[in-house]
Amino acid sequence: MRAARRTRYGPPESIRVEDVAIPQPGPGEVRVRVRATTVNRTDCAILRAKPFVMHFVVGLTKPKRPILGTDFAGEVEAIGEGVTGFDVGDRVFGFEDNGASSQAECLVLGVKRGIAKLPNGIDFETAAASIEGAHYAINFLNKAESVRGRDVLVNGATGAIGSAMVQLAKRAGARVVAVCRAEHEELAKSLGADSVIDYESEDFTNGAKDSYDFVFDTVGKKTFSLARRVLRKGGTYISSELGPYAQNPFLALTTRILGSRKVKFPVPLDIPRSLEIVRERLADQSFRPFIDRRFPLSDVSEAYRYVETGQKVGNVVLTI
Ligand SMILES: NC(=O)c1ccc[n+]([C@@H]2O[C@H](COP(=O)([O-])OP(=O)(O)OC[C@H]3O[C@@H](n4cnc5c(N)ncnc54)[C@H](OP(=O)(O)O)[C@@H]3O)[C@@H](O)[C@H]2O)c1
Repeated sequence: MRAARRTRYGPPESIRVEDVAIPQPGPGEVRVRVRATTVNRTDCAILRAKPFVMHFVVGLTKPKRPILGTDFAGEVEAIGEGVTGFDVGDRVFGFEDNGASSQAECLVLGVKRGIAKLPNGIDFETAAASIEGAHYAINFLNKAESVRGRDVLVNGATGAIGSAMVQLAKRAGARVVAVCRAEHEELAKSLGADSVIDYESEDFTNGAKDSYDFVFDTVGKKTFSLARRVLRKGGTYISSELGPYAQNPFLALTTRILGSRKVKFPVPLDIPRSLEIVRERLADQSFRPFIDRRFPLSDVSEAYRYVETGQKVGNVVLTI
């Protein structure tokens, strides 16, 4: 089969699309014929092992998994011993944030990991684009208690996490202010934003004091110290990044005890739960991922270069 591989950490140019052996499922595993996957920011972190902490997750000196890719949608093609709940031909989608080797024609995955059946009527590209950003957005919302009737600001509302967050927060009953470039105002409103701030002409952290119950910084472009003045008393700041001094996990501890506004730092562990929520939202049509560009597997390096610009809108799909 064809697979996007690399043997050391490095830039997109280090990726080769090569022929490799088709993997065989072991006990408790299935083999999936991959139809679509994405190139996302988790993939970029794994490609370069950046931030440095990624070395401890994906291989200290070199990648444990040479084949790249974290999410997928496709069909079950072979079943290992002892597998229940999946049959050959099932349409499935899934995610493994440490690497699923999904940027390939086939992958093998344990069924207790992040894999679920696709709702009827959802095509493979939509399914693949529904996972990574939504998983992080769901974990922000899990940390946020209820957002119903609350004022929520989503910074980076047109990214993979942000575009999922706007839709999921809206469905959960929040009033949503989206921060993006002016040219994406209509997109943000179509996702459910009540109003939009153009970050090129207005800095939301200079807005009216005490405006929001939650600031979800889904692109990690601001800090708690900047955002706290627009947060109401009891309000919460959550970022997708550690912060410029890796301060966010530390602030999550200290603001639990000190101060009237909190930082929370989600550790997104429960992938099966996220897949279940995504399945429900796809089925009831309250969530649809935005797809920016599609690339064939042969152009995988170009797809990574584009995603690394930090300016993709929603999701970038690799068609297999
Ligand atoms: N380490 C990891 O494993 C990991 C995994 C997932 C995500 N993350 C982090 O989470 C963040 C979000 O990921 P993502 O995939 O959602 O991002 P993304 O899709 O790459 O974000 C792109 C969006 O960011 C917006 N943006 C760029 N500069 C901005 C600014 N100054 N203010 C507000 N918005 C801005 C752009 O909006 P406009 O086009 O409207 O300008 C663009 O739509 C990233 O920082 C990523 O590194 C890390």
